[in-house]
Amino acid sequence: MPRSAAKTFGILTSGGDCPGLNAAIRGVAKAACDAYGMRAVGISNGYRGLIQGDSRDLKSADFSGILTLGGTILGSSREKPFKGRDDLAETDADAGMSAPELIRENYKNMGLDALVVLGGNGTQTTAHLLQESGLNVIGLPKTIDNDLWGTDVTFGFHSAVDIATEAIDRLHSTALSHNRVMVIELMGHKAGWLALFAGIAGGGDVVLLPEIPYEIGSIARHLTNRAKEGKSFSIVAVAEGALSAEEAKLSKKDRKKAREKMPFPSIGYRVASEIQEAVGMETRVTVLGYLQRGGVPSPYDRLLATAFGTEAAAMLNRGDFGKMVCLSGERIGAVPLSEVAGKIKPVPRDHRLIRTARLVGTCMGDD
Ligand code: F6P
Repeated sequence: MPRSAAKTFGILTSGGDCPGLNAAIRGVAKAACDAYGMRAVGISNGYRGLIQGDSRDLKSADFSGILTLGGTILGSSREKPFKGRDDLAETDADAGMSAPELIRENYKNMGLDALVVLGGNGTQTTAHLLQESGLNVIGLPKTIDNDLWGTDVTFGFHSAVDIATEAIDRLHSTALSHNRVMVIELMGHKAGWLALFAGIAGGGDVVLLPEIPYEIGSIARHLTNRAKEGKSFSIVAVAEGALSAEEAKLSKKDRKKAREKMPFPSIGYRVASEIQEAVGMETRVTVLGYLQRGGVPSPYDRLLATAFGTEAAAMLNRGDFGKMVCLSGERIGAVPLSEVAGKIKPVPRDHRLIRTARLVGTCMGDD
């Protein structure tokens, strides 16, 4: 069956926001509407807007001047249409239709030939299920965590690395002035890409990743040796998903139970307390949190998001659906959504940057 070009496409942003989302929206819409003559329908708040039929035609004024705008002009949510839910809004419940059925209904009522979804793991998994259910879907890889399988990098990641690195740079001066161990907790639940890149770029002395469970003894030895060399301060970069070697032996359920009994709001506070107890050094904690997702995209992310967006527009134009746009080396391509769905991309333990970190004397918590 020859593929047909899309004439009208819906676009939505889903999951955690990040710098670059608007650059990507602009890239898709300018190419699709201005170069290929398509109609763009903006869908509000991720998949929730598609379930509730909350959309509006996008005019060129909507996607002009947004290249450097943080966040997303469409809004976002973490709606998972294929996860059973009992909180359907009044109208949805009245309709008596499931979320996927409402989506198919609204996709038709909006006159869509295709759907472009910007998001991370959960978003692309839903995109695959929607494609399987008969919609034409194209995914764009977005997340500050860079933990999406199928692409070398996601847009949002480099902006977050820039933000986190600048924060670590700033912590150096105050750590030195007060002879303290400064612990900075960075985002990245399932994968430690952000902590690895920013930890090395910021000259972190200890970098803890979810992929390498840490031994507090290893950290204590490293900090003590630094002190013996006259370095009275240290910087410890911790991914929010980092865990101890003991915890790594527990089941996810038991790990959660054990953590609920601890008096720490998050891993950064726990590592700081363990360090203080082990080596007696004064520690302080900074949780960078949502600052890593806010503000203006870096030039790299503007380029990557725009290139991903124009590639998606070209795919719309040639009817190439069921795929996620990706970066592979220097090439912008596309991978089947079926290969991306349900997977994450952890940091390989033999990643070249882990080797680099160890060679410049960074402690990864396991030696
Ligand atoms: O997925 C990106 C991310 O920022 C994670 O790094 C972080 O753990 C999570 O989103 C926070 O989710 P929410 O925005 O729902 O609080």
